[in-house]
Amino acid sequence: MKILVTGGLGYIGSHTVVELQNEGFDVVIVDNLSNSEISVLDRIEAITGKKPAFENCDVCNTEALRNCFETHGKIDAVIHFAAYKAVGESVENSLNYYKNNVGGMISLLEVMKTCGTEHLVFSSSCTVYGQPDVLPVTELSPLKKAESPYGNTKAMCEDIIRDAIISYKSFSANLLRYFNPIGAHPSALIGELPKGIPNNLLPFVTQTAVGLRKELSVFGDDYNTPDGSCIRDYIYVVDLAKAHVCALKRMINIAQNGNCEVFNVGTGNGVSVLEILNEFMKANGVNVPYKIVGRRSGDIEKVWADTTKVNEVLGWKAQTPFIEVLQSAWRWEKKIRG
Ligand code: NAD
Ligand code: WQD
Repeated sequence: MKILVTGGLGYIGSHTVVELQNEGFDVVIVDNLSNSEISVLDRIEAITGKKPAFENCDVCNTEALRNCFETHGKIDAVIHFAAYKAVGESVENSLNYYKNNVGGMISLLEVMKTCGTEHLVFSSSCTVYGQPDVLPVTELSPLKKAESPYGNTKAMCEDIIRDAIISYKSFSANLLRYFNPIGAHPSALIGELPKGIPNNLLPFVTQTAVGLRKELSVFGDDYNTPDGSCIRDYIYVVDLAKAHVCALKRMINIAQNGNCEVFNVGTGNGVSVLEILNEFMKANGVNVPYKIVGRRSGDIEKVWADTTKVNEVLGWKAQTPFIEVLQSAWRWEKKIRG
């Protein structure tokens, strides 16, 4: 079975390629290196012993993308990670985000249709729920107006996929709504490579712990939560990668023509900012200087997943103990700082 992974040199994509190869799939990575490095390819090979095929290609370039499909013969399924994902940046450069994330989605679907590839796993995000009225959030929870152009691109891509299935009848898709992916591969050979000042919490924590940042700003402790800081569902990136393999196997093995399913991929546990900060310091025996500052605009107060569907239908459950996840993040930070 040959799987084409767009954005496969990125944070979640590279971890998913490792798990696909571990399960015996042949992998073709399509990535334009806009937010990753070519060295990740060798690191994947160092982990699995197999070097995936790689095409340096922008998924928005439909002709070039079609050539990638045709060069590698029959592609059985696609996992689509390629997108820009920085919420704040999407506010500043909204047209770039629509062009890349929505344009890339449309280009990919066109090529899949002409090349006869009928299965798609799509990287969506819990951001489509906004601040849920009821927690934990299920796949049937109402979607809310996106807090950012980035979040809107995810909601739009979900709708585009659903409409494409109506016209491309033998097509099937799984939309995986990720919560907050964190951590790095146990080998510390791959992990998150944030460019510049990290927007996300855990990379900022690890960079502060290693001395790259002076102190962490905790964005608000006056929320309606037990310790006043925001609550999220932090999921280990390797467990998340394995969820993609489960989704793929199920889609390929059970004819799903015309099916589009949504899965919340989280742990089902809500953890606050102050909790994860203290857990990180305890797990790694390090100190992370921090200060409480005002709320970050656009932040929602609390969200975590109801994982019943992904557990029962995909047969997948987040397995890794939180302490190991936090230790993996620290190992990775120390590795990249040499
Ligand atoms: P990432 O930036 O590390 O990886 C994305 C990869 O896609 C990069 O390697 C980048 O070079 C590539 N890419 C971007 N635009 C491209 C294009 N037009 N053509 C070819 N390659 C392109 O991001 P990530 O954290 O691995 O996220 C992967 C996917 O998961 C994204 O779609 C993101 O929106 C989604 N997601 C991420 C999170 C998160 O917190 N990381 C949460 C929910 C959903
Ligand atoms: C987590 C918590 C912050 C940094 C974002 C995107 C979402 C998805 C995942 C792509 C929040 C607090 C953070 C810091 C802090 N990405 N925080 N100090 O905002 O839940 O989700 O990444 O799909 O779409 O919105 O993740 O890691 O930025 O923040 O206090 O320096 O940590 O306020 O409560 P978020 P995050």
